[in-house]
Amino acid sequence: MIKAPRGTFDVLPEEAARRELLESHAKRILEAAGYTRIETPAFEHTELFARGVGEATDIVQKEMYSFEDGAGRSLTLRPEGTAPVCRAYIEHGMHKLAQPVKLWYLSSFFRAEAPQKGRYREFWQVGAEAIGSAEPETDAELIVLLAELLDAVSVKGVRLHLSSLGDPETRAEYREELKGYLRAHEQSLSHDVRERIELNPLRAFDSSDPRTREVLEDAPKLLDRLTPEDAEHFATVRALLDDAGIGYHVDPTLVRGLDYYTRTLFEFRSDALGAQSGVAGGGRYDRLIEQLDGPPTPGTGWAAGVERMLLAAGDLPVSPNLIDLYVAIAHPESSPRAFQLAREARRAGLRAQLELTGRSLKGQLRHADRLGARYVAIVGQDSSTSLKEMDSGEERELSANDVIPTILRGSRLA
Ligand code: HAM
Repeated sequence: MIKAPRGTFDVLPEEAARRELLESHAKRILEAAGYTRIETPAFEHTELFARGVGEATDIVQKEMYSFEDGAGRSLTLRPEGTAPVCRAYIEHGMHKLAQPVKLWYLSSFFRAEAPQKGRYREFWQVGAEAIGSAEPETDAELIVLLAELLDAVSVKGVRLHLSSLGDPETRAEYREELKGYLRAHEQSLSHDVRERIELNPLRAFDSSDPRTREVLEDAPKLLDRLTPEDAEHFATVRALLDDAGIGYHVDPTLVRGLDYYTRTLFEFRSDALGAQSGVAGGGRYDRLIEQLDGPPTPGTGWAAGVERMLLAAGDLPVSPNLIDLYVAIAHPESSPRAFQLAREARRAGLRAQLELTGRSLKGQLRHADRLGARYVAIVGQDSSTSLKEMDSGEERELSANDVIPTILRGSRLA
């Protein structure tokens, strides 16, 4: 038997209804704030992610599905959406539009990670990007919109971790300072962290080793090294969130697996998720467009994992997909009339289904009942049609032309 590849999943109808509900909330919340939909290709030139996401990141080093096309160019299934959206912004000259350009997407992404609960090789994200504004209001507004989305889909136990990374120059100086500090405490660090002092000293903050964590308590923090402008930017974001009543935890150790971030950085985590606690994350990326050969343009945004939101969500009020009319076939010869009736009913705006498997009439009525049909039209051999109201059990003979108007009027049959 052929099964779906490891780390992928089918969206079956029941789950599709919950996803549709999530999509409708995302659309409502983001479009009310002026975000318009964008979709980019499922694959891009590998170089876009190498340059955009960063050569040294786990995503680029280990998690990309890359392949060569016929002409020997390396292509990659998109592991994330920010670099592609920025590529599209540049390619379509969106800097000429009124700024910021506010875009949202709901797409699938691909990462070759070890599958576990909440971590898949193909997964979906709702994302929002505001390109062309450096104002802290943009970051705060995006965070508020994300909080609204998580609330609308009842994601349980969320905590917002917030930090600022400052600019790349401050970060480079800080890295050197941190390296010096870690080297000075090398004998107390775990083997893993010691090995990575040169390559990725910031990763030390992710360590779960108790002695390493002790050392890091007193380590210099990037948040204390920000330039006055960056510190002010961060203070404004925080003040706006305070005013909006959004709780957060300033987390100087917050690190995210993408290299393009500058200034504001954030992540929503949920207690309901276990090990893969990140529900949504984002931040500012003021150098990314330039890095991709566009005009210097600030940007900020986030992405929320659809599967993780749904895992951490409670029961969602998914309305059953009821139908108005079930068209039953009383005799094989009445099949063409039944076919026409179902079609006309749908054209009149009714949700109508036709008997498709040759059940007995009794079987058809049972099936219509299971589907939750309001009415069943039993199309007989001559031109007669009998309309049955399922709730009351009332039934009446009607001429073919009267069936649809009767249902539309919702009048009693008796
Ligand atoms: P990210 O943190 O890599 O950020 O991914 C965002 C969200 O996607 C995560 O919080 C998580 O919910 C979900 N996610 C990531 N990997 C997986 C996986 N393997 N399986 C299931 N869900 C997953 C970004 O992708 C950035 N582009 C976000 C951003 C937008 N930053 C600025 N603008």
